[in-house]
Amino acid sequence: MQFPDRFADLAEYPFPRLRALLTGQTPGGPEFLMTIGEPKHALPDFVGPVVAEHAEGFRGYPPNEGIPELREAIAGWLERRYGVSVSPETQVITLNGTREGLFNAALAVSPENKNSRRPAIIIPNPYYPCYGAAALASGAEPVPVSAMPETGFLPDFETLDREILDRTTLAYVCSPSNPQGGVADEAYWRRLFALAEKHDFMVLADECYAEIYRDTPPMGALEAARACGFDPERLLVFHSLSKRSNAAGLRSGFVAGGEKTIQEFKRVRSYFCAPQPKPLQYAAAALWNDEAHVEENRRLYREKFEIADRVFAGFKGYQPPQAGFFLWLPVWDSEVATLEIYRKTGIQVLPGAYLSRQSWDGSDPGEGFIRVALVSGADEVEQGLEKIRSVLDEGINEQG
Ligand SMILES: Cc1ncc(COP(=O)(O)O)c(C=O)c1O
Repeated sequence: MQFPDRFADLAEYPFPRLRALLTGQTPGGPEFLMTIGEPKHALPDFVGPVVAEHAEGFRGYPPNEGIPELREAIAGWLERRYGVSVSPETQVITLNGTREGLFNAALAVSPENKNSRRPAIIIPNPYYPCYGAAALASGAEPVPVSAMPETGFLPDFETLDREILDRTTLAYVCSPSNPQGGVADEAYWRRLFALAEKHDFMVLADECYAEIYRDTPPMGALEAARACGFDPERLLVFHSLSKRSNAAGLRSGFVAGGEKTIQEFKRVRSYFCAPQPKPLQYAAAALWNDEAHVEENRRLYREKFEIADRVFAGFKGYQPPQAGFFLWLPVWDSEVATLEIYRKTGIQVLPGAYLSRQSWDGSDPGEGFIRVALVSGADEVEQGLEKIRSVLDEGINEQG
């Protein structure tokens, strides 16, 4: 049996890798997961009744681009959140979770070659693993660019060689960034858009964590594009209900962008995408139309940010995340520290190296970090963080 070579370089997905690392190890206390970014706050009460009310909709095929009610709710939310007006008919596609959209966008809009060369798709490093797989599936070379504290935990694509930029077709950007919680400001977007225009590539902005922040709402790429006069056809933005509404199992997100680009994405995607069932699309519309649950969600995360800041006060290299729900903690070695934490406390965290690979310049920005998810209740998170801090303090002392 022969499988395609194009995926041969893909590392095992982070979670099976972690399971393999911890297999055979004895947890030093009750097992507690701080690995996966799966929201645990309450799902709004109205979701179940909306699904039940529209249950008949399970009988029919759902439209590929989403029901009008959902696209209108999304357009309304974009207007309220970013002051940006998009056409629900021509500039929005609803997604069966953002992940499929992020993946399929590369297939739909990245050309086979550029300037007669194999295209490059530039991605932040560390990164949501889907970006790298999407680049490979479309035949492009994924080019990871380190996103370290010095660059606000965002990739500085301007440092790339001209040779790479000239064959770049797409840039994935994640703001707020997973895992570090960095946020792109207007100056960042402005520089990125200027680079995209100069080297003729498109920007794919993953804004899954846009609604989980401390005080200031992160600027959106659509908002920044309007402020900078950036060609809307060069931009696709992706949003999700998974984190905003604690509805990861609903599998619901959307992509918005310029009419021509959305039209092409829609045309190609209609051949292979399984759209979200209609009753779930009605539930998604109700969620985009409601802000009360999002404010409550944010309040709960804010409380946990404060706990994290308190527990890690004075910890060398601790950077309070601006947004999202992860801590990205500096350690001496990401796998060794993960093992130490598990053996001494029973807590599972994710080695940073499982979310990164070698960047184009040879560095690996994940090796010296662990990712800790702040998704459980405040008390559990506080106890977990205190235990992690004491293991890290001990480990750092032992390292001298
Ligand atoms: C950065 C990032 N992008 C996209 C996704 C996918 O989200 P969805 O649940 O909408 O598919 C995730 C999920 O963890 C994520 O962390």
